[in-house]
Amino acid sequence: MQEFMSIQEALEKKEGNVSIRGWVYRVRKHKEKIFIVVRDSTDIIQAIVTKENPSLFEKAKKLTIESSLMLAGKLRKEQRAPNGYEIEVASLEIVGLAEPFPITKDLSEEFLLDVRHLALRSRRLVSSLKIRSTVLFALHECLHKKGFVQVDAPIITPITSEGGAETFKVDYFKKKAFLTQSWQFYGETLVSSFEKVYTIAPSFRAEKSRTPRHLTEFWHCEVEQAWASMEDMINVAQDCIMYSIKKVLENNQKELSVLGVEEEYLKKIKAPFPRITYEEAIRLLRKKYEIEYGQDFGAKEEKEIAKQFDNFVVITNYPLSILKFYHGEDPKMPGTGMNFNIFAPEVGEIVDGSAREPDLKKIKERLKKAKIKLKKAEWYLDSRRYGSVPHAGFGLGVERLVQWICKLDNIRDAIAFPRTLTRLEP
Ligand code: 4AD
Ligand code: MG
Repeated sequence: MQEFMSIQEALEKKEGNVSIRGWVYRVRKHKEKIFIVVRDSTDIIQAIVTKENPSLFEKAKKLTIESSLMLAGKLRKEQRAPNGYEIEVASLEIVGLAEPFPITKDLSEEFLLDVRHLALRSRRLVSSLKIRSTVLFALHECLHKKGFVQVDAPIITPITSEGGAETFKVDYFKKKAFLTQSWQFYGETLVSSFEKVYTIAPSFRAEKSRTPRHLTEFWHCEVEQAWASMEDMINVAQDCIMYSIKKVLENNQKELSVLGVEEEYLKKIKAPFPRITYEEAIRLLRKKYEIEYGQDFGAKEEKEIAKQFDNFVVITNYPLSILKFYHGEDPKMPGTGMNFNIFAPEVGEIVDGSAREPDLKKIKERLKKAKIKLKKAEWYLDSRRYGSVPHAGFGLGVERLVQWICKLDNIRDAIAFPRTLTRLEP
């Protein structure tokens, strides 16, 4: 068996004999010469076959876009070729001759999503997904270094933690069940065993809105810690974000360049992130347009606020009236929560967290006020019955972070097979 090297290794070798395998990225057939641009998972390289070798030339003539092949030859500098090198082909073997490839230039977004399994061969998608891989690894690493234990919870649950309207129902042997919206309730119970816990798992939202930043299935990094304050959680979330950016800068220079993301864009993010209260945010927004205290922020407001700081920004102390029942009330600012969001300039909300309400009586009042019957989640309140402690946590949307890092117009390209309102296939 011949020894193959990746295209990246071939490019690093700069000269001499190389053997590579991959797929036809582009092919240009002239009378005397055929230029084949080959891609593999690492990069692209140009190969040339000339008529001087007739049997080779006949073989190369058959090549179609996305055919798989193995080839060997001599590498040399060639300024006109992509990446500046070219292989003079000495041997060529077609492994799988491709049928006419359905993806050509100028196709609609919808069509490209129909053939997502093929579109995933594009350099842009490969790049954003490699960065996603770095980010996921970085989040795990950052949390492990801080002593957090990964404890996962069921995806099929009897509860709706974030609100009934946005849940996917599951027929669970004739019982009503849901796809999880958040691991949080489980996380809050787990702090009494592990103190510092986290998960990175899919969450599901039956979002009826079609926006560039909503998926119906997204990956959720959720953290919960005993004896912790909102302050502590802001710091953990901030460290997770900064560590992810650092790791992408270390490992993904090539991918960033394919995506057209400049280093400066990532390096301008500085910790500690600026911090303002909800009330201050409202005042900021009022300079631009009308908004009432007590109104929740949408994408427009979130991006506008973050734009003003040209950095990630932390917003704290939302009015309790727009918060979920589990967020604790801030004794220093009654009527507001010990809660926070982190907004990214071009994407908006990336993190949502708070110090939780630890008091059983108070949390029951909040539930009553919000007209929520926990029914199947009575067990959640046991965390307050048996040795309740102050605790705090947050959820970070993995694709939102990747979307920001990769400067993606649409969150879809931060995940391989996006699930959205209108998209279940492939
Ligand atoms: O703000 P959310 O809904 O908060 C929670 O679910 C809390 N229970 C988290 C916690 O405290 N453990 O979601 C948290 C984050 C958002 O800030 C956003 O980044 C992301 O999850 N997110 C989505 N990402 C993509 N598509 C969606 N439909 C998303 N919904 C939330
Ligand atoms: Mg939120």
